Amino acid sequence: MKAELEQTSDTAKATSEIQKVDFVWMNGELVGWEEAKVPVMSHGLHYGTGVFEGIRGYGYGENLYIFRLREHFERLLESARICDIECNYAPQELERACLELIRANKMRQDCYIRPIIFVGFSGINLGFINYPVNTAIVAFPFSQYFSKAGLDVCVSSWTRLYDPVTPPMAKICGNYVNSVFAKRDAAKNGYDEAIMLNSTGKVSEATGENIFVVRDDELVTPSLGSSILKGLTRDTILLLADELGIRAVEREVARSELYTANEIFLTGTAAGIAPVLSVDKRRVGNGKVGPITERLAKVYFDLVVGRETFGHKQWVTKVY
Ligand SMILES: Cc1ncc(COP(=O)(O)O)c(C=O)c1O
Repeated sequence: MKAELEQTSDTAKATSEIQKVDFVWMNGELVGWEEAKVPVMSHGLHYGTGVFEGIRGYGYGENLYIFRLREHFERLLESARICDIECNYAPQELERACLELIRANKMRQDCYIRPIIFVGFSGINLGFINYPVNTAIVAFPFSQYFSKAGLDVCVSSWTRLYDPVTPPMAKICGNYVNSVFAKRDAAKNGYDEAIMLNSTGKVSEATGENIFVVRDDELVTPSLGSSILKGLTRDTILLLADELGIRAVEREVARSELYTANEIFLTGTAAGIAPVLSVDKRRVGNGKVGPITERLAKVYFDLVVGRETFGHKQWVTKVY
């Protein structure tokens, strides 16, 4: 056991403890952190019947900037529709609730915002007909997901779940068991992250990030049919690449392309733009962060902290 833990990657060891805040938004009102509790027999807890989002707020200067707030709530409600979970709130209402919560907590530092809609307490019927649905938003201080500037990743032995099983296109609570399996094995084997292949053996995504591969100055990312979440960071990078004159394509990606890539990086709200330096202990390119990754990461960071808009002012919500 000790030897196993010693092998665990730095990233896995990085603390991810959540710092308590004063208020949580729950079913239409602000409640104290300790009051935000749910019954142990909540359907969502037992069966994974919930959907969630991950949103980032970036403290910059005196203000806090939230990236693509509206799109995150739209995706949340789309995920709920896919799960046949009825939520009584419109995206605009959830957006207002989120801002109210952040202001009530006087949050100005980098933070992570976690909205969740889940089936509540009523019974054990898997069909959850007429069961209550809870909606909550939690926001807490957060700086970085990966503790390293360059990642050592592996290809997981776990297959990415796919649409006829439970759709990876939706952020369904239960889906994340698939990611957890892959992530834990990777961490125990000393890797920072796992890349999963889909049911046809093509590259899908990492456990909580999309993947981009640079080959011959072309940026390639698995297409939407590759069993991936339609990441908002992925979408942002595809648009920025186009605007910066970097050729970007969405297509199927073979595992072997990971071993011959010039550059690889992962994208996600929590992870940002995370360069990959090795895959299965094989060096990516020259083993250093590549120029295209570096360029896109800089533009992305300037954008999310509200330093530059690059013509996308609507993507950034200023809280104060
Ligand atoms: C499985 C999975 N893929 C990709 C992503 C990246 O999506 P986004 O850029 O919208 O955060 C996430 C994070 O939400 C994820 O959980």
